[in-house]
Amino acid sequence: MIQSLRGMNDILSPDYERFEYFLETASRIAKRYGFHYIETPLLEETALFKRSVGESSDIVGKEMYQFIDKGENDVCLRPEGTAGVVRAFIQHKLDKKGGIHRFYYHGPMFRYERPQKGRLREFHQFGVESFGVESVYEDALMIMMIADILKALGIGYRLKLNSLGDQHCMPPYREKLVAFIESCGDAICEDCVRRKSTNPIRVLDCKNEKCQSLYVNAPKLIDNLCEGCESDFATLKTILDQHTIAYEIDTNLVRGLDYYSKTAFEFVSDNIGSQSAIAGGGRYDRLVEFLDGKPTPAVGFAIGIERLLELIVMPEPKREGYYLGAMDAESLPLVLKVAEALRKTQKAVVEYDPKKLQNHLKGADRINARYCAVIGENERNTDTVWVKDLEQKSETQIPMSQFI
Ligand code: HAM
Repeated sequence: MIQSLRGMNDILSPDYERFEYFLETASRIAKRYGFHYIETPLLEETALFKRSVGESSDIVGKEMYQFIDKGENDVCLRPEGTAGVVRAFIQHKLDKKGGIHRFYYHGPMFRYERPQKGRLREFHQFGVESFGVESVYEDALMIMMIADILKALGIGYRLKLNSLGDQHCMPPYREKLVAFIESCGDAICEDCVRRKSTNPIRVLDCKNEKCQSLYVNAPKLIDNLCEGCESDFATLKTILDQHTIAYEIDTNLVRGLDYYSKTAFEFVSDNIGSQSAIAGGGRYDRLVEFLDGKPTPAVGFAIGIERLLELIVMPEPKREGYYLGAMDAESLPLVLKVAEALRKTQKAVVEYDPKKLQNHLKGADRINARYCAVIGENERNTDTVWVKDLEQKSETQIPMSQFI
């Protein structure tokens, strides 16, 4: 028997109802914040991710679904959504146009990771990207939007916050950090030795316990920010305080993608096991320029949908629409006609097998219909439909002409 690939799941009812409820909620909130939907391809040139997410990142270095297509193009399934949106932003010349452009998107992402609870090889993200706003108020807006989405879904969280500095304060900090890493000699792990030359700040989130105990004394980026970064970070904290959004400063939060500068944040849940990050994002002011666009400040985030599913508090299911059934085979054509008419405005589900009224009522209850409508010999003779309102518990005989 052929099975789905490891780390790639089918999503069917009742999970899909949760999935759909999440998308409806998150999309509604993103639209309220003035964001517009964007759809980008699942497959992109590999170079796009190498240049944006970064060659030194685990995502590009180890986890890409990369292959040469039949036209000899080096392509890869997108491991994340930001790079494609930035590419589209530049390709459609929105960088040249100027102004503010705000997008949201959702869809599958692919990372060849070791699957475990909460970590898939095909997973879904809901993300937003905002271009053209330099103000740190936009960073706060991102965080407030995630907080709104999680609140609407009844999900508790902790927010971790850091600043990764910019082109002024990051290079001198990097030098300090490299000097510190060198002072650790060969006590650090192999990965950190590699990171030292590719992207030193990534050592800070090394999972190796021995490395972590050494890095407790590492210089902290937050103590080495330039004036601009420090003042923006202070403003961000003030805005969050004013909106009573609690946060923890995590100086080791460096994110797994290389394009960030200044604000970086992660929302974590303590109720889903070790893969606890439910959303992550930050500012990436240099990325548009890196991908050959006109320099444009930008900030965004993505939520991992699968990680949220079991946390979502669903609203009480409401009875909805019609269940329709026939008491005898002769009545079925009429039932189909009534259903067709009803479907113009609402849900109408037909049971094809003629059965007794009691069994139809059970069927209507099973699908959580508001009304159970049944046609039998009596209804055919009187040109009516028998209808029970399962919420009000009332029954009526309604003229057929009211439906058709
Ligand atoms: P990321 O932190 O790599 O950021 O991913 C965002 C979220 O996707 C994570 O917090 C997590 O919930 C979920 N996620 C990541 N990997 C997996 C996986 N293997 N299985 C299940 N869920 C996963 C980004 O992707 C950035 N593009 C976010 C961003 C947008 N930054 C700026 N704009």
